[in-house]
Amino acid sequence: MTTAVRSAHEALACPTCHDPLEAEAAALRCVSCGRSYGARGGIWDFAPDLASQPGLAQRFMEAPAIVSIYERWFRPTLTRLVSPLRYDEEERYLERWLGATTGAMLDLACGTGRYTRWLGERAGDRAVLGLDLSRAMLLEAHRRAAAVGRFDLTFARGSALALPITSGALGAVCSFGALHLFPDPPLAIAEIGRALAPGGRFVCLTVARAPSGALRPLEQAFSRAASLRFFERDALTRWLGAAGLEALDLTQQGAMLLFAARKR
Ligand SMILES: C[S@@+](CC[C@H](N)C(=O)[O-])C[C@H]1O[C@@H](n2cnc3c(N)ncnc32)[C@H](O)[C@@H]1O
Repeated sequence: MTTAVRSAHEALACPTCHDPLEAEAAALRCVSCGRSYGARGGIWDFAPDLASQPGLAQRFMEAPAIVSIYERWFRPTLTRLVSPLRYDEEERYLERWLGATTGAMLDLACGTGRYTRWLGERAGDRAVLGLDLSRAMLLEAHRRAAAVGRFDLTFARGSALALPITSGALGAVCSFGALHLFPDPPLAIAEIGRALAPGGRFVCLTVARAPSGALRPLEQAFSRAASLRFFERDALTRWLGAAGLEALDLTQQGAMLLFAARKR
């Protein structure tokens, strides 16, 4: 049990000062700093001044041609190229490490919303927020959810580096396939630590740094070309600790790393 709020809407806050928002015409306005956040196509925009972020990988995440094949082909094929993981194994990991968590949940960097819908089945759709920087991904997530009648899921555009969430409001954060794309992973983890209620869980799937020297130059070239990061266990454990999170598990499957942590 955590002290998390119950619904995604209750958890929303100004991404700049983390203070509450009030409804104003078709927008949400911060009661402290007065910044206003609008919605387009059913998706709140909490990063109106941030068009995108640098890097080839993120350009792919915003390309309609990739987005249209992302969930069915692109994501499973890429994951299988570097690890034995399949969607059903990812789901089992998530189920296991969310434990008995309740309350509002964030699918951080939700892409087309596969895990947003999954979390909604577990926690109830009103409890779940899917957040991403890519408008194209979010529109597809919204379309897919609506196509199966899931109108109570909330989708919003925003940055992992400035979460539009009240401090201590969330019961859980899931972030699959994305930490390596964030420009500042320790800051994103600090934001997750801030947003979680005591006892709340963070479950993540990302990419591991190659163990051998031989693969390192390839990794570095790929990293520079695509603006992608690769992680070592020690660094992740350190960043989690600095964010007030206790690592519960860290499992490597090929080049992919699954890990789970709990807010102290
Ligand atoms: C590979 S997709 C993962 C989607 C989904 N979670 C999954 O497991 O299939 C990575 C997502 O991270 C999003 N992303 C990248 N940088 C971000 C940032 N700074 N803040 C929020 N989302 C970001 C991209 O737009 C993209 O949709």
